[in-house]
Amino acid sequence: MRDWKLSVFNKLDSTNNEALRRLSSSDKSGEVILAYRQTMGKGRAGREWVSCYGNLMMTATIQIEERQRMSDLAFVGAVAVAEAVNELLPHESRAEIKWPNDLMVGNRKLGGLLIEVSSRPSIAALGIGLNLKNAPKSDNFQAVCLLDFDVSIKPIQMSKHIAQKLGVWIERWNLFGFTPVIDQWKVWGKGIGEVVRVRTAEQTIVEGKFIDIDKEGRMLLELSNGRSMTISAGDVLFE
Ligand code: BTN
Repeated sequence: MRDWKLSVFNKLDSTNNEALRRLSSSDKSGEVILAYRQTMGKGRAGREWVSCYGNLMMTATIQIEERQRMSDLAFVGAVAVAEAVNELLPHESRAEIKWPNDLMVGNRKLGGLLIEVSSRPSIAALGIGLNLKNAPKSDNFQAVCLLDFDVSIKPIQMSKHIAQKLGVWIERWNLFGFTPVIDQWKVWGKGIGEVVRVRTAEQTIVEGKFIDIDKEGRMLLELSNGRSMTISAGDVLFE
């Protein structure tokens, strides 16, 4: 557990931008920035993140140790958010993690994470967007929000709940390495053992059985010709 310093804003361009601005003049991590509105919410792969009032938009600044891989933070963050959310959702509607770090209920997106590296390369800005009250329409996916399951929670409460879980998972990562994170990721991982389609970073669509994720968080697929394929970046497509 750790003590986060929480700053709350009525409106920001993006909580990630605010975190990066702060890190350009200070080397202090351990901050949580929360905004009730974002005018320029950013999603993964340069997409827009529709930021409705009532939903959670937060960014935590996190110090990455020398022996840790920055890319592992995507899984640490996803597990922390999934745990926070699953304590609130009914068991039959629990959230799963779509590789590497989208939060889903069924085939609908509940939230997502965007990690950006600051000008201080050992500190990351971990942005978290979670649909609490509104499920915004998007061309890229169908959305769902916690209120759809009668879970009513305010952004500030949710940010504290998630920050507490993040503290716990970061401490575990620091003490025991990446293995416990990956093990828990697999408990909530969506589609393991199933045939999935993946749009790779090169924009090709690959279909195969999602066998596992490896020690570095890469996706292992078994293709129909029996060969295996390792994917380190891409979007898993569930209809
Ligand atoms: C995704 O595309 O799934 C990632 C979405 C991340 C959105 C959050 S909202 C808080 C933080 N600020 C941003 O501009 N983006 C992230």
